[in-house]
Amino acid sequence: MDKKPLIIANWKMNLLLNEEVGLAKQFAVKLERFAEKTEVVVCPTHLGLIEVGEILKPTKLILGAQDMAWGENWALTGGVSAGMLREAGVRYCIVGHSERRRNLGETDDMVNKKALSATSHGLTPIICVGESLDERQAGKKEVKVISQLKAALKNIKGDQPIVVSYEPIWAIGTGIPAEPSEVALMVELIHQTLVDLFSLDLIMKNFRIIYGGSIDSGNIGDFLKLRYVVGGLVGTASLNLEEFTKLVQVTKLS
Ligand code: PGA
Repeated sequence: MDKKPLIIANWKMNLLLNEEVGLAKQFAVKLERFAEKTEVVVCPTHLGLIEVGEILKPTKLILGAQDMAWGENWALTGGVSAGMLREAGVRYCIVGHSERRRNLGETDDMVNKKALSATSHGLTPIICVGESLDERQAGKKEVKVISQLKAALKNIKGDQPIVVSYEPIWAIGTGIPAEPSEVALMVELIHQTLVDLFSLDLIMKNFRIIYGGSIDSGNIGDFLKLRYVVGGLVGTASLNLEEFTKLVQVTKLS
């Protein structure tokens, strides 16, 4: 597995279609020159996938999706399957983001089904795991993260690329990232859990661990220095062209 830094822009539900198209065009101009050294994935809304995909196509920037449904061709109103995303040129898909778990009641079982469906269609799932502030304060963060991870990876063979994103909920969108030393311990545990489940060979080949939660150009370097962390899932900072460009540029240098 190519372990060059992986930076994922998650625009969430922040932009209208014309704004997504406008920002994608600017990304294509500004970020292309860094894309050789850093893998940059852009995740617009489902609505923006086709147009943003067209803009990214001539560049090295990669199209990602923010969510997907599991299965194919079944009666799920509003659903978009892995096969549909692949057809649209999507290569990565975020699954199990805490905003969906919290606001839409997504369960570990659903996240697992999505991860299985993604891998069986050649889509790389970005599996999000992370504890809430309450869980952290109650000393349960490790138990929570590991149980989410094991549930998400149930029946996964490990023979396809997978990204695990450690995202403490209290650090998302707050401007207060986790301390790198704290992230270091958690990603070590995540790595250990992978070792319990898969051969080292498969882990080296197919698994990457990233961090998410209030990443910006000033702190990304600290996270990338950590053993096992090879990238970041970026929300707020990915909406600002100058800031995100700086972030990707710093990543390249780290
Ligand atoms: P943030 O979002 O960068 O705004 O904290 C990160 C995420 O949702 O993964």
